[in-house]
Amino acid sequence: MPVKVLMVCLGNICRSPLAEGILKSKVNPSEIFVDSAGTAGYHIGKAPDPRSIEVAAQAGIDISLQKCRRFTPSDFDNFDYIFAMDRENLMHLQDLTRNSTDSKKLYLLLEEAGIPGDEVPDPYYGGPGGFQEVFRMIDAATDNLLPLLYRS
Ligand code: 4NP
Repeated sequence: MPVKVLMVCLGNICRSPLAEGILKSKVNPSEIFVDSAGTAGYHIGKAPDPRSIEVAAQAGIDISLQKCRRFTPSDFDNFDYIFAMDRENLMHLQDLTRNSTDSKKLYLLLEEAGIPGDEVPDPYYGGPGGFQEVFRMIDAATDNLLPLLYRS
């Protein structure tokens, strides 16, 4: 059984689709399964934001076929590691936990990866530079997480 990793942001169209695509590009899918979801339901069924698709494509990663979905409490049963992009979404996920087993699966992405800055900022209302910054942060974070995920 692969280790199952879920990347979570607010909309599941900017940050977590990038996190899903970037981590997928670094792992063997038979060993590590990666998915993403949003805590909000504004964009369900939609493809990622074109700016995320573009910044991923520049790195040779195709995220264009991903479809936005909302986080559901059953994700606590289906995933081993759930990484939130920022503290607000981490708190939202904590509110949805049913027991301590659920809570133990929750992590703040950058904190767990030992990357300074704590939060992957929401780039939705900013310019393209924000998406490049988000890409760099998640790229560094996912590199650092590989030993943890492969030890599981
Ligand atoms: P994400 O960014 O959480 O990184 O996907 C956002 C996407 C959409 C919205 C906010 C943040 N929105 O308000 O629609």
